[in-house]
Amino acid sequence: MTIGVFDSGAGGLSVVAAIRASLPGQEIVYFADTAFVPYGSRSDGEILDRTRLCCARLLEHDVRALVIACNTATANAIDAVRAWAPVPVVGVEPGLRPGAAATRSGVVGVLATAATLASRRYAELLRRTRAEAPGVRFIEHAAQGWVELVESGQTDTPDARETIRASVAPLLREGADTLVLGCTHYPFLRSAIEAAAPGVAIVETGPAIARELARRLRIATSNPRDSAASPAARLRLESSGDVDRLAALAARLLPEAG
Ligand code: DGL
Repeated sequence: MTIGVFDSGAGGLSVVAAIRASLPGQEIVYFADTAFVPYGSRSDGEILDRTRLCCARLLEHDVRALVIACNTATANAIDAVRAWAPVPVVGVEPGLRPGAAATRSGVVGVLATAATLASRRYAELLRRTRAEAPGVRFIEHAAQGWVELVESGQTDTPDARETIRASVAPLLREGADTLVLGCTHYPFLRSAIEAAAPGVAIVETGPAIARELARRLRIATSNPRDSAASPAARLRLESSGDVDRLAALAARLLPEAG
C-alpha cells in the first residue's frame, strides 16, 4: 500500500528522499499544493484549510499513512488532520533537540518560515527544548525567499548564494555553530548554506521522519509483508497546479526518484 506525502510545494521531496532511503520499496503518492505555495506568509486559517483539502486528496488513494512533510502545515494543522484522518499521520517540526545536542558554542540558529516560527506549536517545542537544554540559546530567523529559490529550481545560483549568505550572516555573528533547517525546502539549498556557513553543523529532519514513519507503520500493520522492501517502488506526483512543472522540478531535485 501507498504512503501519502504532502507539502505546499516541492520541499517535501527532501522527506521523500529520506523515506526512500529507509523504506526503498515503499510506494509514495506526493501531493504538492503548488497553486498556493508558499504557505509561510499565509494566515493560520488558510494553511489549515489547504492542508485538510490536500490531505483529503491523498486519502482518495487509500494510503496507509499520511506524512505532512511541511513544518508550516504541521504547525498549523496536524492536530486537525489527526482528529479526522483514518490512518496514522506523521508530521515534521524543526529539530531543536538535535540542534541542542550538536552545538558546542551554545548558540543554535533556527531557519524556518514566518508562520512556523509564529505558531503555538513552535513556542511549545521551544519551551520543552529549553527546559531540557537550559544552556542553549536558539536564535530564530524567518528565511525570506528561500522557498521561492527551490520552487524556481535555483538551488545553487549566485543569487541563491547571496540570499542565503544575507540570512545566515547575522546568525553566525551571534555565535551560532549549528543551523536547524526548519523547513523541508531548505535541505535542497544545503550546498549554498554550507558555502555561507563553513564548518557549521546543519540539522535536517528528513531521516527522523522516515524513522518515525517506519515505527508507525509497524504499529499500524499486522502484515510484515506490507513493509517489505521491493526495489521498483514508484513515486507518483500530483499537484493543485501544473503537474508537469512539478515533475520537471522533482527530476532535478531528486534525480534518483525516477
Ligand atoms: N516546506 C514548507 C515547510 O516545511 C513550507 C514552505 C512554504 O510553503 O512556505 O515549512
